[in-house]
Amino acid sequence: SDHIHYQDHQLHIESLPLSIIADRIGTPFYCYSEAKFLQNIYRCQAAFQRFDIAIYYAVKANSNLSILRLVQQAGLGVDLVSGGEMLRAHAAGIAPERMIFSGVGKTRQELCAAIESAVGQINVESQEELVLLASLSEQFTRPVSVALRVNPAVSVDTHRHITTGSKGNKFGLSMEQVVPLYQRYADHPYLNIAGLAMHIGSQICTVEPYTNAIHKLLELVTVIEADGHTVEVLDLGGGFGIDYGDEQSLDFEVIAQTIASSVAGFEGRVCVEPGRSLVGDAGVLVSEISYVKAADPCPFMILDAAMNDLMRPALYQADHPIVPLQTNLSDSVRRYDVVGPVCESTDTFARDYPMDAELVAGDRVAFLCTGAYCAVMSSAYNSRSIIPEVLVSGSEIRLIRKAVTPSMLLEYESQTDALD
Ligand code: LLP
Repeated sequence: SDHIHYQDHQLHIESLPLSIIADRIGTPFYCYSEAKFLQNIYRCQAAFQRFDIAIYYAVKANSNLSILRLVQQAGLGVDLVSGGEMLRAHAAGIAPERMIFSGVGKTRQELCAAIESAVGQINVESQEELVLLASLSEQFTRPVSVALRVNPAVSVDTHRHITTGSKGNKFGLSMEQVVPLYQRYADHPYLNIAGLAMHIGSQICTVEPYTNAIHKLLELVTVIEADGHTVEVLDLGGGFGIDYGDEQSLDFEVIAQTIASSVAGFEGRVCVEPGRSLVGDAGVLVSEISYVKAADPCPFMILDAAMNDLMRPALYQADHPIVPLQTNLSDSVRRYDVVGPVCESTDTFARDYPMDAELVAGDRVAFLCTGAYCAVMSSAYNSRSIIPEVLVSGSEIRLIRKAVTPSMLLEYESQTDALD
């Protein structure tokens, strides 16, 4: 991308060489470009707002408080999946009416918190949850606006671990369950079933799954409305794919156009919940080479970053482009097995990976497109640090999350009082 680019053989983020940040705070670390993130937001807004489609950023993709403050300033709503994310959204100053609370297993506590803070929409995923929510709304005597999440049972061509709208997975209500629930709660004093929601998967690079699923949703709308109810909102979820180096992605303009023409004729509000496509390509993970270990057929590049810092390759066989921070003038291609130091064979980022330069211990590399579902999925496995996050704007560097160190974690284990 233009905000993450080479200049004088040095990989820059905005106007800063990444090696300068590495010198300042050490490796590994995540680094985001504010300008790139805002550019993605503006492009998304330009595409969707033309059709009056509202955007709710899926916080799970990257929930750093400073990222959420930018989301708030840009005027987006948010899609939340836990009380913890709700806490963050409140802390970022996002108005509760611009919050959607999704998730298949919201606890009673989380539902209470959502009702008390007047979250704008709760996406309900089961009849059981709806029963609980109705009774809580009576207890609180507070209005609650609900969208029923439907599983449209469409097939989606993405990694099977990140499909969510196919038959047999845990998400949403079946098509048959929806109309009876509408009927059952039509006259409820506090619960307003405002509409339907879907989210069919993630990293989707074609429009067909969306057109198919929307078609199914609209069939339901017809039945519901024929029954005398109104459908005020259709929440179409996220899932728009980005280019991880394979040149596959789903352009905002294309998907916005597609959605707009698919829902033509629907009278209510329409919204989407993109996460990855807003923040994914705005981030990099910077790591230093600890060793280049000779091996056959190709050497191991052993990094100081590991699967606990970046889970996606181990979990989904995901590919992230890996590039050196500094490129030599020698342009001979070398191949490496790129691995981390964690004691697991799956701590492997790439095999037989071509690099434009011959690299040695002490050189640094960057994993590109690691702004979404990377820092948020990190763990302290092997008693490693949760690594820091940095936000760059122009030539300004801000540490937006300090490292959570092994000694900090150890402190939580040093008091072992019996519970009484
Ligand atoms: N809305 C709902 C209800 C969701 O479950 C998700 C993502 C989104 C919106 C945002 O989807 P996006 O636009 O970011 O694709 N950890 C996986 C991705 C899991 C996505 C889960 N749901 C990965 O690293 O690929």
